[in-house]
Amino acid sequence: MKAVTWHGRRDVRVDTVPDPTIQDPRDVIVRITSSGICGSDLHLYEVLGPFLDPGDILGHEPMGIVEEVGSGVTRLAAGDRVVIPFNLSCGTCWMCGQGLHSQCETTQNHDHGTGGSLFGYTKLYGQVPGGQAELLRVPFGDTLPIKVPHGPPDDRYVYLSDVLPTAWQAVAYAGVPDGGTLVVLGLGPIGDMCTRIAMHQGHRVIGVDLVDERLARVRARGAEVLDLREHDKDLGETVRGLTGGRGADAVVDAVGMEAHGGAPVAKIAQTATGLLPDALARPLMQKAGIDRLHALYLAIDVVRRGGTISLSGVYGGMADPMPMLTLFDKQIQLRMGQANVHRWVDDILPLLTDEDPLGVDGFATHHVTLDEAPGAYERFQKKQDGTVKVLVNP
Ligand SMILES: NC(=O)c1ccc[n+]([C@@H]2O[C@H](COP(=O)([O-])OP(=O)(O)OC[C@H]3O[C@@H](n4cnc5c(N)ncnc54)[C@H](O)[C@@H]3O)[C@@H](O)[C@H]2O)c1
Ligand SMILES: [Zn+2]
Ligand SMILES: [Zn+2]
Repeated sequence: MKAVTWHGRRDVRVDTVPDPTIQDPRDVIVRITSSGICGSDLHLYEVLGPFLDPGDILGHEPMGIVEEVGSGVTRLAAGDRVVIPFNLSCGTCWMCGQGLHSQCETTQNHDHGTGGSLFGYTKLYGQVPGGQAELLRVPFGDTLPIKVPHGPPDDRYVYLSDVLPTAWQAVAYAGVPDGGTLVVLGLGPIGDMCTRIAMHQGHRVIGVDLVDERLARVRARGAEVLDLREHDKDLGETVRGLTGGRGADAVVDAVGMEAHGGAPVAKIAQTATGLLPDALARPLMQKAGIDRLHALYLAIDVVRRGGTISLSGVYGGMADPMPMLTLFDKQIQLRMGQANVHRWVDDILPLLTDEDPLGVDGFATHHVTLDEAPGAYERFQKKQDGTVKVLVNP
């Protein structure tokens, strides 16, 4: 089959690789029809190279049609339409029972001390072949895939794999009080979807980014927006000016470790990890920190005293300077983590209707073939050609 594979920093290719096969009676093989490219894939593209091997298959936002089921699978059959959550969760362990699917005890990676495995996401998370491919092997066939109806376009359901539950969890963890204001930092696919969910829930939303078409998309749906290029020195003052002098009740950071702006040291460290041999780069990243915390610092500034910061942006370092004095003094609550996809599916599914209150049908800016995926990665990273969300259609 054809698959999108990682070969090095900013080097993604389409290779012909062996078809996946059933390895456990509970496995299913899915023929992929749509597969998102995610901001998290850009971390692989840019800084997480030391944790990948050339040839690793990327992608964790897939959906498609069940092609084959293992002998132990009873709930799915060939021909069923399914969305695959980005985290491999068994659905039956203690953590899954708590709704903490990203911490699944069956797939936790004890050798790296990390949580549950992820499709297409580095040795830290199981090095599981990903879903930007023609076929995908999916374990836990009875509990992991989300069965969806035939009929509506893939775009209606594909975001159940990641964007929707991630944004839903980010807004839930933000805990915006009734009548409160949520600031969303970063208006990529995740931040954009956070603004839609929060407005749907009746909150006042202020989105922040520095890319014209991303600001415009969010403004067009009714949120207030602030252009960071105009407010790089006074974002906190500006938000306080819009919120009775106090600051936002809650902030979602949907940016993560490659934030624009902030410390040049981290930028140098990020580049260095791409040049060093993996054995040296891995501890540098894990112990010395590679994060550019600019967005997190902004969040700490714009949130009001006693407010909540909800991190959905991914951070990677260990020893980053956290302004503990300010966090403690402002009595800030911090919540974060990979999305627990199954925890939110029942809340989200009723919104995936023809009325389309969250605008998922038109959410993708680009649909590409597998062969076009490498170019799409580049344009997504460089934010060219109006690229916000790309779906690969194998
Ligand atoms: N927690 C999870 O389960 C989960 C799931 C999916 C994605 N993520 C993470 O969420 C983040 C966003 O993902 P995405 O797909 O929307 O990616 P993206 O890269 O398209 O979006 C990031 C946005 O942040 C903007 N930005 C950069 N620096 C900024 C700053 N200092 N202030 C405000 N905005 C800034 C960029 O212009 C861009 O629009 C990534 O870190 C990704 O890894 C987390
Ligand atoms: Zn994703
Ligand atoms: Zn589990």
